[in-house]
Amino acid sequence: MSAIRGELIRRAAGTGHDQFRALVVEDDLDFREGLAHLVAHEGFDVSQAGTLHEARAQLRERSHGVVFVDLALPDGSGFDLLGAGPNPQPDFVVITGTATVEAVDRALRHGAVDFLTKPVDLARLHAILTRLVRRMGRFGPMLGRSLPMQRVYDLISKIAPSQAGVLILGETGTGKELVAQTVHQMSRRTAGPFVAVNCGAISPSVIESELFGHERGSFTGAEHARKGYFEAAHGGTLLLDEITEMPVDLQVKLLRVIESGRLMRVGASEPVVVDVRVLAATNRDPERALRQGRLREDLYWRLNVFQIEVPPLRERGDDILMLAEHFLSEFNLREGTSKKWSERGLRKLAKYSWPGNVRELRNVVQRTAIIARDVVDDPGLPEDEAEQSPMEEGSALQIPVGTPLADVERRMILATLRMVRGDKPEAARRLGISLKTLYTRLNLYQATGRTGVGGQVEPPNPSSDG
Ligand SMILES: Nc1ncnc2c1ncn2[C@@H]1O[C@H](COP(=O)(O)OP(=O)(O)OP(=O)(O)O)[C@@H](O)[C@H]1O
Ligand SMILES: [Mg+2]
Repeated sequence: MSAIRGELIRRAAGTGHDQFRALVVEDDLDFREGLAHLVAHEGFDVSQAGTLHEARAQLRERSHGVVFVDLALPDGSGFDLLGAGPNPQPDFVVITGTATVEAVDRALRHGAVDFLTKPVDLARLHAILTRLVRRMGRFGPMLGRSLPMQRVYDLISKIAPSQAGVLILGETGTGKELVAQTVHQMSRRTAGPFVAVNCGAISPSVIESELFGHERGSFTGAEHARKGYFEAAHGGTLLLDEITEMPVDLQVKLLRVIESGRLMRVGASEPVVVDVRVLAATNRDPERALRQGRLREDLYWRLNVFQIEVPPLRERGDDILMLAEHFLSEFNLREGTSKKWSERGLRKLAKYSWPGNVRELRNVVQRTAIIARDVVDDPGLPEDEAEQSPMEEGSALQIPVGTPLADVERRMILATLRMVRGDKPEAARRLGISLKTLYTRLNLYQATGRTGVGGQVEPPNPSSDG
């Protein structure tokens, strides 16, 4: 793995910048500069000190996320630095000549979070920094330090290196696609492509050729042979989003491709060999889809070797605030502004139930940041909590006679989505429209800034970040 986080992430994050500031305290100049270089390579801003005296001055001047400290310094023991600095305390990593049990024990008792021996073991340094960054609430591209997210991170670390299938579950907008991207990034396939396909947004008649490609002349309009998403993901990872929306006969073919590593383009007579790790996601209950016969059991078992449940945002505690700060910093960076949340604004965010999860939060932050002056005080969340909470089956909408039909349609669509808790395929079925139509409408509402709760959308076309 390369640097723990890129320059971009750090700059975009804006807040908590000092967490990525490291101090190396060491009197041996060569070793100090070598270590500083390595830590900088992991994405930290590094300063150096040769004595306790210098180190104290630097710690007073600004806060640091992590301090590497040698024990034998010209003006005293490195232990004297531990616990002495201003709050918030940095994490201390002690540098010892040899990792004897006594030395390590002593370091940990003094409050060090870890130790390094000379010469530096690169893998160990990387592991230490990765752990520190994770405690700060970052895991690859993902943000959040709540317990439920820590569990997700644990799972991802364990399963990313394997080739096994992963089924990612979670409400709309919780970050299922981001989880898939993270699995990809932390796998051996990271240099290969990551391709995400939304099975629900492709009409059933073309989904096979979209996935597996087609030969020239295989159907009317097929003027050129074309690779499908599977081949585009060769050497990398393919995320099949809304997997339960894939026609059942195609699920059979999909299983065969996963098992054999070969696929047939539509109209082809020779198979193509593909090397793709397949991940799947859905915001539906897969067991229910199985019972309804909409998800084939054999495919399910293949995809469900591991299961990751992404928790809803309302169960992530202070992650809401961390994400709100992050999205506002992103906005500031893009727009060249320096807007800030007021306490009142943050309190409102923390109290809201976020049925559209992280995507809804991001949209809310962007919308309010545009309108706000310097201080973002009112996130403009719906006053009427009833408008936002999930609707019960059979509840009614009050629509004044004379309401434009387009508005009636919009309100009915959004209310239905609330009733089925953002389950778009289910909403489409209830409304008697195709899923593709539903996506088109939701995109329209988003474009005109009239999304309600359920209106968190994504493009109707499959996306690929190559
Ligand atoms: N933990 C997180 N940290 C930072 N950003 C996040 C996090 N989770 C989600 N996001 C952002 O929120 C948005 C929605 O995430 P994503 O598209 O992965 O959700 P999803 O679960 O796939 O949604 P859907 O069910 O609608 O397909 C994206 O912009 C994503 O980058
Ligand atoms: Mg998704």
